Amino acid sequence: MGLKTLAGALGALILLAPLAATAGAPTLTRADTREGLDLSGTWHWSVDPYRDGLEGFHHGPPGLGHRRYDDVDVDAATRAKPTALYEYDMDRAPTAVLPQAWIGHDPTLRYYQGLMWYARRFDAPPLKPGQRAFLRFEAVNYTAKVYLNGKSVGEHEGGFTPFSLEVTDVLRASNNQLTVGVDSTARTDGVPPPVTDWENYGGVTRPMRLVITPGTFVDEAWVRLTKDGKIAATVKLDGARAANQTVHVRIAELGLDLAGVTDAGGALNASTAAPRSLVRWSPETPKLYDVVVQTDEDRLTDRVGLRTIETRGSQILLNGKPIFLRGISVHEEEFGDNPARTITEASARALLAEVKQGLHGNFVRLAHYPHSEIMTRLADEMGLLVWSEIPVYWLVDFSNPRTLALARGMLADNIRRDRDRASIILWSVANETPITEPRNTFLGQLVDDVRALDDSRLVTAALLTARKTAPDGTVEMGLNDPLAAKLDVLAANTYNGWYSDDPLDRLPDMVWKATDKPLVFSEFGADALAGFSDPKLMRKFSEDFQKAYYEKTLAMAAKAPTLRGMSPWILKDFRAPRRQHPIYQQGWNRKGLVSPTGRRKPAFFVLRGFYEAKEAGR
Ligand code: GCU
Repeated sequence: MGLKTLAGALGALILLAPLAATAGAPTLTRADTREGLDLSGTWHWSVDPYRDGLEGFHHGPPGLGHRRYDDVDVDAATRAKPTALYEYDMDRAPTAVLPQAWIGHDPTLRYYQGLMWYARRFDAPPLKPGQRAFLRFEAVNYTAKVYLNGKSVGEHEGGFTPFSLEVTDVLRASNNQLTVGVDSTARTDGVPPPVTDWENYGGVTRPMRLVITPGTFVDEAWVRLTKDGKIAATVKLDGARAANQTVHVRIAELGLDLAGVTDAGGALNASTAAPRSLVRWSPETPKLYDVVVQTDEDRLTDRVGLRTIETRGSQILLNGKPIFLRGISVHEEEFGDNPARTITEASARALLAEVKQGLHGNFVRLAHYPHSEIMTRLADEMGLLVWSEIPVYWLVDFSNPRTLALARGMLADNIRRDRDRASIILWSVANETPITEPRNTFLGQLVDDVRALDDSRLVTAALLTARKTAPDGTVEMGLNDPLAAKLDVLAANTYNGWYSDDPLDRLPDMVWKATDKPLVFSEFGADALAGFSDPKLMRKFSEDFQKAYYEKTLAMAAKAPTLRGMSPWILKDFRAPRRQHPIYQQGWNRKGLVSPTGRRKPAFFVLRGFYEAKEAGR
């Protein structure tokens, strides 16, 4: 059963009926807790730069000896028929442990952008009558073509959101042959665009599972605290018996049992007054409740925090109290001198501990795309507020309906995967996108989509700043972006003193205009090569310059009247192919406050001091 699940097409379907059972693939929330098989581990891999496995050199279909996905044991086939010609053999190809980007299993492939084949065999747990089977991929960058036992079972575009492909009718008891064609090539009509400031990391970058479900199962279960003090549950069932099913949402610790019957689309919306015993989630008290969602066929569990987030004028209110977001930006890249975008519980904890314990932070911007669910679940557990975003970044093809559908699908997939995560308070729809009419329309649609899918969080976007010099020479900073009217929180990427030759001493005198909504500095930063000291000249890329840049920028920030948070760019140096200074960069962006292997630069302590003072209420 071929199921084309372009994120965009799926997204369009979802947004027509955000919670009804859609014709598209399910969300399969909490797949990691379900019966099935972890497909991480040893895979064979074979590079295919001319896409020979997908089409012949005359652009016809690939020939017998070229289809990497054929259900064949090549060695056995050629022993049986010595004249047969195969120009591949996945069973005897080199092996790699997945998930990881291919740079991890072969560093010479760092700049390879193209098609790579991965294949493995597995025996499946026996399906009981009525059960269903899915292949679920947490992320494959950038497009994936999936074949099981020689049959195409689906495709997906988008490198940062999960997708599930039903294989109930294709799965066999033993010796299943699974082949994935991963193409990392970015597209001018894709999301993100081909030019970004981060490593593309082609490959299967997050875990994969065979997931087995009942015939009708709990596909989504969104539980949250509403601003008017109710606990609300939105549940979506998937399957032939999704409609008119009794569903119970139970939180035993609160003595809560919310029950209802799904509608014709298999969805249930129910709410009840929150009990007085409720302990609200916050960075200081990251309380999570065990939630059980039960139907007569299925039982799903999750751990959910309950809190409210809203704005009042220029304040951000967490559980009704004003808060300052003491944050930092983070890319999805683990510590180490040869990262492969391999986020595990341990590598995620190492990054987030530097934010929480290292910097005394309470906030993290997970830039510039949806991060691993491991990160967002850990933020729930550790008590860090999260900015989550989709990679509508720089020059996206804003006039292209295909690109819009893709972005909408990614946004919907991101929100549907993570809207149970109390840590997430901001959905961001864009980063530094130049202001044009098509861009305003494109982003306006994305903002509307967020509102339709999740009325419990705030919407933002990282905007470019406007700067002017007053007659007396004062530099006035602000935002002049029509999108601001649609946002809850205004976010500015501001780099005076780095991407300008302003003397650092002028930064504290720069004046930020008051805004009628909360303002966040979503980025500011300066590069420094760890260990490069230049106290006399204070050249850029020295640790001395970066330290002074932070001191002066924070002095400026302290005077911005409606600044309610910041996520400076960035916690850790990260791979960036655009950055090729032979001494200072070597293919890395050095704006990290910490080196790739975890060495804290002097500027780290400047930001920590600023946050400690904020934490103490100074
Ligand atoms: C931009 C962009 C980042 C980039 C950073 C930089 O604002 O959002 O992705 O890495 O600035 O120039 O270092």
